[in-house]
Amino acid sequence: MKLILLGAPGAGKGTQAEFLSKELGIPTISTGNILREAIKNGTPTGLKAKSFMDQGQLVPDEVIIGIVEERVSRDDCRKGYILDGVPRTLHQARELNRFGVAIDQVVSIELDDAVIEARMTGRRVCSGCGESYHIKANPPKIDGICDDCGSPLIVRPDDNAETVRARLAVYHQMTEQLKGYYADLGKLKLVQGHQAIDAVHRDILAALGVSV
Ligand code: AP5
Ligand code: MG
Repeated sequence: MKLILLGAPGAGKGTQAEFLSKELGIPTISTGNILREAIKNGTPTGLKAKSFMDQGQLVPDEVIIGIVEERVSRDDCRKGYILDGVPRTLHQARELNRFGVAIDQVVSIELDDAVIEARMTGRRVCSGCGESYHIKANPPKIDGICDDCGSPLIVRPDDNAETVRARLAVYHQMTEQLKGYYADLGKLKLVQGHQAIDAVHRDILAALGVSV
């Protein structure tokens, strides 16, 4: 299964990708997590991406396309994968086709901007593995520590109110149109993201026609 999770910043893509990856036995490819790792390691890609991410702007398409083309060619992707946060532009979507990524299904998690802005203040992410938590909706077992890898949880640098608003504007301008693109291909399913995390998960499985 080759699956895309679409949705605005903070809609819950990373949270849901984590469940699906475990249940379907396929990796998640999160361009945001890959870029944050690159920044942490001070690689040339990280240096290029940092200023765009800090301002809530999209990293240039050619950087993203290079990352994804390399990642999907690895062995663990043979049975499929979940794309979280990519594609984000029509050009990225068309480039996926060019290098032979045949997408099976696309799920868009739908959520109003006002709910997103409120949610983001409660998000904490793992400084080690990138996993997302929420202080109320999805707290870790031990305060401030990642359940999975034991690293400290931090506030993501681009989760301040001003940058969140910039990211939402970019989503509406550049990414939302991908819903039309995939709807025309008969691949788009919409899921309501304002529900509790497990209800969103249940609806995604139903939309995919998967029982676990
Ligand atoms: P990226 O890391 O992809 O961020 P994003 O799209 O802005 O999305 P988020 O990771 O913020 O949110 P999410 O949907 O994963 O939500 P989450 O599950 O964490 O990208 C960051 C930046 O990298 C971009 O701005 C850009 O600069 C660059 N970039 C990345 N990919 C790119 C690309 N393809 N092209 C160009 N540039 C790119 O949930 C959010 C919070 O809500 C958490 O606290 C969570 O616990 C909580 N939550 C989740 N679901 C629920 C629920 N149902 N109820 C209550 N709380 C919930
Ligand atoms: Mg995410």
